[in-house]
This record gives sequence, C-alpha cells and structure tokens, in this order.
Amino acid sequence: MKEETRELIRNLTEAFGPSGQEEQVRELIASLMRPHVDGVRTDALGNLICTRGARRVGTAGGPAATAGRPGAAGTATAEAGAGGGKKVMLAAHMDEIGIIVTHIDDKGFLRFGTIGGVMPHRCLGQRVVFANGTVGVFGHEKLDDPKDLKFERMFVDIGASSRAEAEEKVRIGDAAAFTRPLERAGNRLVAKAMDDRIGCAVLVEVARRLGTSPHEVYFVFTVQEEVGLRGARTAAFGLAPDVAIAVDITLTGDTPKAETMEVSLGKGAAIKVKDASLICHPGLRRSLEETARAHGIAYQLEILERGGTDAGAMQLTREGVPAGVISVPCRYAHTPSEMVDEGDVEACIELLVKALEGPLEW
Ligand code: CO
Ligand code: ZN
Repeated sequence: MKEETRELIRNLTEAFGPSGQEEQVRELIASLMRPHVDGVRTDALGNLICTRGARRVGTAGGPAATAGRPGAAGTATAEAGAGGGKKVMLAAHMDEIGIIVTHIDDKGFLRFGTIGGVMPHRCLGQRVVFANGTVGVFGHEKLDDPKDLKFERMFVDIGASSRAEAEEKVRIGDAAAFTRPLERAGNRLVAKAMDDRIGCAVLVEVARRLGTSPHEVYFVFTVQEEVGLRGARTAAFGLAPDVAIAVDITLTGDTPKAETMEVSLGKGAAIKVKDASLICHPGLRRSLEETARAHGIAYQLEILERGGTDAGAMQLTREGVPAGVISVPCRYAHTPSEMVDEGDVEACIELLVKALEGPLEW
C-alpha cells in the first residue's frame, strides 16, 4: 500500500463523526473528493453526494473526456444511459458509533446513551472526544460482579468538578466518539472507526484512480448508518440509481474460537452474498465475482448472519434497485481497535475500479 493511501486512512479514521454529527468528517471528505469529481453537494439529511459524469475515450461527436476535471477542457457531460452507461450509486457511511450526553450531575459527571452498537465492556479504559475537542474517560459505579457492568451504571468523566464547570464544555445532546490514533501492525492497520471510514477511503481512492468509465457515478458518503441505514435510504430515493453498491466492513471468523464465518483477514475483498439487511442481487454479485477473476483480484464470498449495511436500504428504494456490497474484512468491529489488512483494502479498491470501468452487466 502506498503511504498516500495509508495517510488517507489515518486522516479519515481519526476524524470525528458520530451518527447525526458528521459535519467534521464530511468537510474533510468533501475537500478530498472535490478535485476528482464534477460536483459535490450535501442533501437534507447531511449525506455528501459527489457526482462524476461518464468519461469516454473518443466518443463520436463529443470530447474525449478521459481526464475530465472541473475547470479542465473536455469535462465529460455524457448522459448515463447513452452507450450502455448506468447510473451507479456507491455508498460508504461517514458516521461512527458513539455516545450522547443525557444528564450531567452536580459533581460534573456525565450520564449517557449510546449511538449505534456500543457495548459496555468495550468502553472500559477508553477515551472519548466531543466535537469541540473535550476529552472524557469512562468510569463506573462500584460493582459486586463485573457482569453487572451496564451503561446505566457508567459515566463519563471530563475532568470537571461541578455541573457548571462541565456545562462550559459539554451540553445535553452532545455526542462523543472514541479517540485513538491509527497504528500499523505488520500488514494490518488498527484504528477506531474503520467502520466505515475504510469504506470512505476506498471510495476516495476509487475516485482518484478511476479511468474511463461509461457510467455516471455517484459517490455517496452517507449519514446515520449505525442507527438504521437512514442516510442511504433518502439518498437512494433522491438519486434513483440503476445499480447500488455499498462498501462497508464485515466481520471475520479467523480469530481464536471465533463464531464460524468464512471471511478471513488477508484473503481479499469480500463480495457479499447476504446479511441481515439484504440478499444481494445475484446477477450483480456474479458480475463482481467475474470482474475479480478476470483481473486476478483476490476475493472471498461473505455471508454475515447478524448486522446489515446501507445496501439493505438502497435495494428497497422506489421500485427496487439491484444492490450489492464489497466488504473490507475487519476484526474487532465496534471497538476502538478495528483491524483491517492492507492487501484486502487494495483488493476492494481495485475491484470497484475495474467494475466501474467495465459494462457492469449481468
Ligand atoms: Co458499524
Ligand atoms: Zn459499517
């Protein structure tokens, strides 16, 4: 993996953006995407929608728009549908799991609710950060048995000694996310919010590397996936795509005494067959498999028995949209130390680039 890609993943994973408070990460992604697409906008829910028109070499009567960029001569304007191109919606969610302040006591300790799938035992010893940079640590009441650890008996300590002092930094309804720097471990990368900033990184790299493509591509960085696939639902309705592909993490079955699951770290891009939110369109899934085989890209088939992703919402939009998922295998999901393999990430980028450069037919 190039250092540039690793730095991209570092910047994305370290950015702040629990569900509903995605402003900071959205600003970052917008700045990364602008040089590579024709248009960038934010919709009513906060999804970031980046549009890239079809780019073809030597289109009869039109400009050869292989290097079309805003402001450059030959910016592509080809309509999707002409010459077999499709309207393709790609989705990766910007939001991450976190907590939200529900009560501040007289001593300045914060009680909180959860945003997405946060678990009490995964919070012990961890730190969170708020949008304004305020850092807090998790603490808990005296417990007779570690099994009694529940969020109701936990609090966040931001170093304040009174309610008034706490309220100078944090208000009811403010959200916080885990804070952790990205680390390298051999060929693996460990960070908080790999779910799903690694998907965002894949989309940014695809926008950077994509050559000629007959398709009109919408790179959508969605909000509120972790609380119910909400951003993807409205974005897909608004865009009415011909095909939808989500990029998200999936679990693995390759650690000691793990739940049985075929996916392993280091065995390539995972092409989803099914999860709890959707059964992927079989034609699209086979088309992705054929693309991987044709270009020698390592891949594995994924069945995730619990959990879902944006494709589940996109598939059920309007009269239905053929939907699929390319997943990045990830260990320790929904902890502050989510681990992915660099080779798997590269395989996901390459697979999506090749799929978009081809006819995307089945
Ligand atoms: Co998640
Ligand atoms: Zn996710």
